[in-house]
Amino acid sequence: MSGTVLLTGATGYIASHTWLALWAAGFDVVGVDDFSNSSPEVLHRLQRLGDRACVFERADVCDGAAMRSLFTRHAIDAVVHFAAFKAVGESCAKPLAYYRNNIGGLISVAEAMGASGCKTLVFSSSATVYGVPEVLPIPESAALATTSPYGATKLIGENLLTDLGHADPSWRIALLRYFNPVGAHDSGLIGEDPRGTPNNLMPYITQVAVGKRERLQVFGGDYDTPDGTGVRDYIHVSDLAGGHVAALRHLMHPSGRSFTANLGTGRGHSVLELVRAFEQASGCHILYDIVARRPGDVASCYADPSRARQLLGWQASRDIAAMCADSWRWQQSNPNGYND
Ligand code: WQD
Repeated sequence: MSGTVLLTGATGYIASHTWLALWAAGFDVVGVDDFSNSSPEVLHRLQRLGDRACVFERADVCDGAAMRSLFTRHAIDAVVHFAAFKAVGESCAKPLAYYRNNIGGLISVAEAMGASGCKTLVFSSSATVYGVPEVLPIPESAALATTSPYGATKLIGENLLTDLGHADPSWRIALLRYFNPVGAHDSGLIGEDPRGTPNNLMPYITQVAVGKRERLQVFGGDYDTPDGTGVRDYIHVSDLAGGHVAALRHLMHPSGRSFTANLGTGRGHSVLELVRAFEQASGCHILYDIVARRPGDVASCYADPSRARQLLGWQASRDIAAMCADSWRWQQSNPNGYND
């Protein structure tokens, strides 16, 4: 399988790992990003890891003219649309910015694709579209609901693309619902580099371990879970990247059809289980306090990953120890992320 894949949000956490996986799978890649939530240094790291130049354009995906121009200058066979704001709490404070960027950007990219005749699209969705799960593990057929503007932009994006596929069946669209991406490329050269105070658990833990933060706040110790702390389906970002390659291979195959799939491991781990696994992997002691629940959090959320396994022949392979070891190697090598 070959071809040229456009990655939007290309210098972001998941996209940069997908970039490497696509190169390894024999694809060519064009990246586009506006660096609003990522660093140009990622390109240098990718070129070092891939031993090849990155084909990259700096642009805002909401800029329709820039997107149309990009498709006239590059022969794109498929697109993976990662570009979006992703902080749940921030989306509650800035809903208009989230709707404009996440929905407007998707429309702008899809319009430029349609105008150039490129109708193969992988959309970065999220388990957050399941809202408060009614059944565990969660199948793709589960009821959908959202609890934040961020989650609403993901669900609207899925519905928008589903309508597009109904209007024009020549589109081949994959809706990939990520659970909790963690970890880093095993080189330690690329990884998660959140700006400001990390919203997510793993980057907060690694910043405590490297001495940037004093203590972890565990949001809630009274959930209906084995140890009272929240349970999530953590998936290694390199496994997630492999899931995107498998999705593209499916869509680009002559018999490929549009689909929706969970990208998770099917296993849940609690906050305290992740803390303990990280301590074992890193040799660091993580100080923490159990405090009040975070508004909007659910007790447990983990995937039924069987559809991706059956349809794509893909499943996650890295365990929680590898996720912790790789996260630590990245943070230890880059205490200030890409700003070192
Ligand atoms: C995981 C667990 C927290 C931080 C969100 C989005 C999802 C995706 C991933 C974008 C929960 C607990 C966390 C901390 C804690 N984002 N926690 N202390 O909320 O499951 O998912 O991020 O694509 O769409 O919804 O991930 O890492 O924030 O939280 O105790 O400082 O860790 O309560 O149980 P979440 P998370």
